[in-house]
Amino acid sequence: MSKEKSIDIINEINRMKKDKNAIILAHYYQTGDIQDIADFVGDSLALSQKAAANDADIILFAGVKFMAETAKILAPEKKVLLPDINAGCSLADSCKAKDFKKFLKENPGRTVITYVNTTAEIKALSDISCTSSNAVQIVKSLPEKEKIIFAPDRNLGNYVLNQTGRDIIIWNGTCHVHEEFSLEAILKLKEENKNAKVIVHPECELPIRMIADFIGSTAALLSFTKKNGAKCFIVATEPGIIHQMKKESHGKIFIPAPPKDSTCGCSECNFMKLITMEKIYRCIKTEKPEINVNKKIIEAAHKPIQRMLEISEQLGL
Ligand code: 13P
Ligand code: SF4
Repeated sequence: MSKEKSIDIINEINRMKKDKNAIILAHYYQTGDIQDIADFVGDSLALSQKAAANDADIILFAGVKFMAETAKILAPEKKVLLPDINAGCSLADSCKAKDFKKFLKENPGRTVITYVNTTAEIKALSDISCTSSNAVQIVKSLPEKEKIIFAPDRNLGNYVLNQTGRDIIIWNGTCHVHEEFSLEAILKLKEENKNAKVIVHPECELPIRMIADFIGSTAALLSFTKKNGAKCFIVATEPGIIHQMKKESHGKIFIPAPPKDSTCGCSECNFMKLITMEKIYRCIKTEKPEINVNKKIIEAAHKPIQRMLEISEQLGL
């Protein structure tokens, strides 16, 4: 797209946002240009908090479907738009409601904590939602004896288990992006950049977490790169976050951790990257595709998300 056309589209998006009292919420894994036109950019927790508290009539979600669904559950009176309805999530797909119901039956008497990276149906079967920003703290906030089911991410689940030592049964799901980082390639990069810090998202596999200098959610990784004195970071999460890291720490170097194998040779989330500026323009113009969630599911799914927001507020997260 030419620079002029791109500026025209951005101006039009901004005009329609004002006319329609709409806001754009963008996840850190969106492309830099989309992050820059958003009213709010954040990780999954911050985006849920923002979706629950804003004065807009329309929320356009530059992210994936489970995020837009979470916004609809938190604000059912608002119109929630997702510029590409195919923007799904391999992690959410790894936990189907039919299989999860069976799993819950086989493991009764446990508090069910599910990551927000799930469908609305899975949330409706849960006691508390969590994100990678608050999973450890949410588990720690429960009485020591409480038995827990954690779903769907087995890597985040194992990380939470190690950090808390609680009685947790973990669902066997994964994110195809965070599973794919190459230990060998990261160690090679570390050898070539001896003073670099390796920073890792908890959805990554154990060997990658074991060589990390810091493990945290997308927002925690961003905050670490701002506060830490190192000049170079090897970043093991979706590389979209590097846009904010560069903006907030001029002069520091950020190297995306390479995957074992991928068609693009990068670690981009193909679902997140389905959202483009043109699709945002069309979406805000036509107010389609709209995200709707069944009323009964909204009622049931609201409870665990609300509980997560309340615990996070109490803990100052
Ligand atoms: P956070 O936003 O909690 O860091 O999660 C990362 C992710 O995979 C979102 O899809
Ligand atoms: Fe889902 Fe992984 Fe993409 Fe996040 S990065 S949206 S968890 S597939």
